[in-house]
Amino acid sequence: MPVLRITKHGERVLKTACPPADFEGLKPELPALLKSMWATMNAARGVGLAAPQVGRSLRLAIIDVRPEGKSERLVLINPEILSREGELNDEEGCLSLPGIYSKLKRAAKVRVRALDENGKVWERVGEGLLARAFQHEIDHLDGKLYVDRLPFEDRLRVLDAVREAKVRWG
Ligand code: NI
Repeated sequence: MPVLRITKHGERVLKTACPPADFEGLKPELPALLKSMWATMNAARGVGLAAPQVGRSLRLAIIDVRPEGKSERLVLINPEILSREGELNDEEGCLSLPGIYSKLKRAAKVRVRALDENGKVWERVGEGLLARAFQHEIDHLDGKLYVDRLPFEDRLRVLDAVREAKVRWG
């Protein structure tokens, strides 16, 4: 399966809220699309990837935070956050801003509901890195990057780094 190009900060598709996915309509192309997305995420050594990052405005994301070093693949179609608890300030990065990290406050624990690759509803409580990944990927589907959530000073610092990095990203 081909590794896809990952869209970068500044591209329109990353700033656009994705419309809900129609599962039946998506079904025929879903297996191939997911294979390409997993290949792309793994090649970039990411823990999550959202459809807009491969140029598709679709409410679809994948996550694998490798709990205890073992792969655990989650497919999120039309995900929703049902509840949030606590707060955790931790380092965050994004494959659309490669090499740039910043601390960001997120809910420490979230409950998410979504459809899987077979169109079945699942619900899951994520804590720590998984909670962060849920919030980060769902933000992508709403046209938001983590930098948009940073306090003013941190955002300026990250945007300076982005300006410099854009030359390298090509
Ligand atoms: Ni990201």
